[in-house]
Amino acid sequence: MSCTIIVGGFFGDEGKGKVVAHIAEKDQPTIISRGGVGPNAGHTVKIGEKEYGMRMIPSGFVYPNARLMIGTGVLVDPRVFLHEIDMLNVRNRTFIDSRCGIIEEDHIARDKGSAHLAKKIGSTGSGCGPANSDRVMRTSRQAKDVPELSQFIIDVPEAINGAIGKNETVLLEGTQGFGISLYFGTYPFVTSKDTSASQIAADNGVGPTKIDDVIVVFKAFPTRVGEGPFSTEMARDKSDAMGIQEFGTVTHRQRRIGQWDGEMARYSAMINGCTQVAITGIDRVDKDCFGITEYGKLTKKAKDFLKQAEDDIGCPVTLISTGPDIHQIIDIRKEPA
Ligand code: IMP
Ligand code: MG
Repeated sequence: MSCTIIVGGFFGDEGKGKVVAHIAEKDQPTIISRGGVGPNAGHTVKIGEKEYGMRMIPSGFVYPNARLMIGTGVLVDPRVFLHEIDMLNVRNRTFIDSRCGIIEEDHIARDKGSAHLAKKIGSTGSGCGPANSDRVMRTSRQAKDVPELSQFIIDVPEAINGAIGKNETVLLEGTQGFGISLYFGTYPFVTSKDTSASQIAADNGVGPTKIDDVIVVFKAFPTRVGEGPFSTEMARDKSDAMGIQEFGTVTHRQRRIGQWDGEMARYSAMINGCTQVAITGIDRVDKDCFGITEYGKLTKKAKDFLKQAEDDIGCPVTLISTGPDIHQIIDIRKEPA
């Protein structure tokens, strides 16, 4: 019975969607609620032959008994939201906070049409930057102003705090990654909001004293999509030779690939208040680890890598992803006390 936040520790696309989906199936939360910027996020969840790409609905949708929510701080694009509701068949259990900021067509046009955002920063073109800017200017519409959303509107903080008060299990799902936080990231090559765990709590109207666990997700080989510094980036032919190629869920742009960055991981874990670490892509450290579900069966090379990561971060690694499917994971978290 606890409230857990899951966030990305590098530059986004660490595999949070998959980790959240696994935790949702295993811990059976009553509520899974999204924080983060908005539909610039792309989360992928693969179950057997089926692959889902979500930009608005929490990745924890795979657990059918959870109520799914979008927190107050998150921007909603009604077109994306309504499309995903029906694609995932979650219309009757999904809710939006009445105060969410709305992304209009005009925000998307301004995002894509701005040389600064589209070219220099390499934004996703989803309208998030201009919409957050209008929100700060206090000119944008809120979810409660949009008739097509009326059936989904609730007070999300009231629902979540009520569940926490009844000792239920709640997951708060972050998006993007630490390195593209507006506050802590590689400004100006960042997204339009903070992305750290405190922000994800604030997005959902949950105070810091109510959070039991912060799981920070790192990928063994970090990636970055869009412009900006990336100190451990590898030359493309090197990552190609290692068989690592990735493409964005939202923009389909090819992601830049880097080596493990222990110093960034430490700093990110510190600011996120990390209590547990999830490492994804261990099968890229050693191909022989693909699909393994027991810690004891990992190779020495993989275990050495995990030990190094733990030393760098100063927090236990309790989740290890060994492949894209949600069941390809090693979970050595302790049962909650
Ligand atoms: P924006 O958030 O669309 O304004 O994009 C700003 C920067 O953040 C660009 O470099 C994007 O590629 C990056 N970005 C935004 N959302 C994500 C995400 O979910 N994953 C990875 N990169 C992202
Ligand atoms: Mg993504």
